[in-house]
Amino acid sequence: MDGIDVLLKERRLYRPPSQFQKKAHLSGFEVLEELRRKARRDPEAFWVSAAKELFWIKPWRKVLDWKPPFAQWFVGGKINLSANCLDRHLSGARRNKAAIIWEGEPGEIRTLTYQQLYSEVCRFANVLKGLGVRAGDRVAIYMPMVPEAAIAMLGCARIGAVHSVVFAGFSAEALRDRINDAQAKLVITADGSYRWGQVLRLKDAVDEALRSCPSVEKAVVLRRTGAASPEASDLAWSEGRDHWWHELMARASDRCEAEALDSEHPLFILYTSGSTGKPKGVLHTTGGYLTQVTLTAKWIFDLRDDDVYWCTADVGWVTGHSYVVYGPLANGATTFMYEGAPLHPSADRFWSMIARHRVNVFYTAPTAIRSFMRLGEQWPAKHDLSSLRLLGTVGEPINPQAWLWYHRAIGGGRCPIVDTWWQTETGAIMITPLPGATPAKPGSATLPFPGIDADVVDKNGRPVPPGKGGYLVIRRPWPSMLRSIYGDPKRYEDQYFSQITSPDGSRRRDIYFTGDGARKDKDGYFWVLGRIDDVLNVSGHRLSTMEVESALVSHPAVAEAAVVGRPDEIQGQAITAFVTLAGGRSPSDGLKDELRQHVAKAIGSLARPSEIRFSETLPKTRSGKIMRRLLREIASGETVRGDVTTLEDFSVLARLQSQGEEE
Ligand code: PRX
Repeated sequence: MDGIDVLLKERRLYRPPSQFQKKAHLSGFEVLEELRRKARRDPEAFWVSAAKELFWIKPWRKVLDWKPPFAQWFVGGKINLSANCLDRHLSGARRNKAAIIWEGEPGEIRTLTYQQLYSEVCRFANVLKGLGVRAGDRVAIYMPMVPEAAIAMLGCARIGAVHSVVFAGFSAEALRDRINDAQAKLVITADGSYRWGQVLRLKDAVDEALRSCPSVEKAVVLRRTGAASPEASDLAWSEGRDHWWHELMARASDRCEAEALDSEHPLFILYTSGSTGKPKGVLHTTGGYLTQVTLTAKWIFDLRDDDVYWCTADVGWVTGHSYVVYGPLANGATTFMYEGAPLHPSADRFWSMIARHRVNVFYTAPTAIRSFMRLGEQWPAKHDLSSLRLLGTVGEPINPQAWLWYHRAIGGGRCPIVDTWWQTETGAIMITPLPGATPAKPGSATLPFPGIDADVVDKNGRPVPPGKGGYLVIRRPWPSMLRSIYGDPKRYEDQYFSQITSPDGSRRRDIYFTGDGARKDKDGYFWVLGRIDDVLNVSGHRLSTMEVESALVSHPAVAEAAVVGRPDEIQGQAITAFVTLAGGRSPSDGLKDELRQHVAKAIGSLARPSEIRFSETLPKTRSGKIMRRLLREIASGETVRGDVTTLEDFSVLARLQSQGEEE
């Protein structure tokens, strides 16, 4: 893994290939710069022109109502997101075009045209109504990557129900907490999903969660694995509560008028990790979100009517919301979905799908690229990838080596790469190249999207000079920004609007702090350096150190735990946990495994520590704060080895470290 120094030395410029540029929606750096200038002078006018591309049931009265830190966009407007993704594509040639092409892990292929998807969504919206779901009610979705996940989301949006999609890799306990926080009335799930050739039993996890979710009245269960797998036929069934998806759908009408919803009507809650143990319900609303998601998808992925576009994210993450489902469908594009594991049944599964479906635009995470790189070029080389014309990355900084490999081995040297920086909270892409306009520098997300006022500043909100590190902030509200933390506006304010202060110490409620550190170079290009709070990024998945710590201390053998991230060549960061044991318990490999399993049960296997180190004590400052920096250094180096780290080891290290700092 190369460090920041290598990142900053990476000076090569990759200009948009002229072939690409000729046909791009947005072509030429000067055109883009002019747009940026105009948007800087009048950001509201810029976003108004984007919003006007959508279908509004009633126009807005006011573009932006900004009472820092709370923003409202297109106030008074009435809109329906599902009508924008479906109904408005039905009158012309797009009606019979593929909206979703899907491939299951075992290899089946399904295509839904816009007309078919529309009918399914209307039907499902009627199912929701029939189950007593009304506008504003919360619906939890715990689904595999199947078209029905998108149908469920769009069905909610059609009637104004607020969806909370929970990634199917999260455990029953994590699902339970999310359902309870949102007070969801309904859960939508499947009997199972295929992954790595195995059946992942989702309904079992739902059953376990629902033992302590009093708000949930009903569950809808899609039969995905049932007939094909003997294990799934022993499904538990709660009469009265559980309903089969296919039975409800068979009885539902395929006509359902799209509800006229306020622009600020809540669209979804998506839980993400912050710096505390409790995940935050990031709340997004309708009109502004759809405006920014639609425009960014169109320009950044340069979507064309004959494209097959594939974003590999799961719908359980924000990327799946904005760039698998809503962004592409709002643009009338064809979005490809894949159910299973990337390397199943062999390491060329992705490349085989790109070749077979003639995928044109491919958007994935650096961690995936790094693992493909390690597996070797012979896998993509087996397939004809000439349909690809544009590549993208998201989720973490990409190291220049991985960027260059992606460019050459996957893109054949002819595809621009868009390295897109954004967050669950931002709802849509914020800093990114535009593929027909921005010269790329491998490792840099380049420049803010027009209308986005991003900057790198010091504690007082003053810009830092080029080359210097600082806080990555957004100075002005943007349409797809989160509106709050669900049910906790104070936490919203504390989390995002308290770091940057005026010289007198008062909070700058008008400056959004992203949690990331960054630098700008002399060309104004942004180099995102990663989180500077207690948030980990493991394989592009966000986790808080405290979340993993509280999972560990909930095990009776654990007295205290401290969790840190250490650099990892494939995952970006890997989890190391320092654990002190309760009296009477002694370290063993068996206990390590048990603790790892315990974390997987509390959160999901994505949070399983890759390393557990037993320690007699944890190093603390005099005021009792755990010395995380020291632990991070120990975790990433070879400083201390052996079974147990002792207090003496730590005190020696602390002394050495403070000497180092004084020098
Ligand atoms: O640290 C940044 C990193 O991912 C964080 C956001 O994580 P999440 O909310 O899960 O959303 C991920 C997908 C949008 C950011 O705070 N991050 C995301 N994209 C990039 C990135 N870091 C560097 N470069 C990126 N392109």
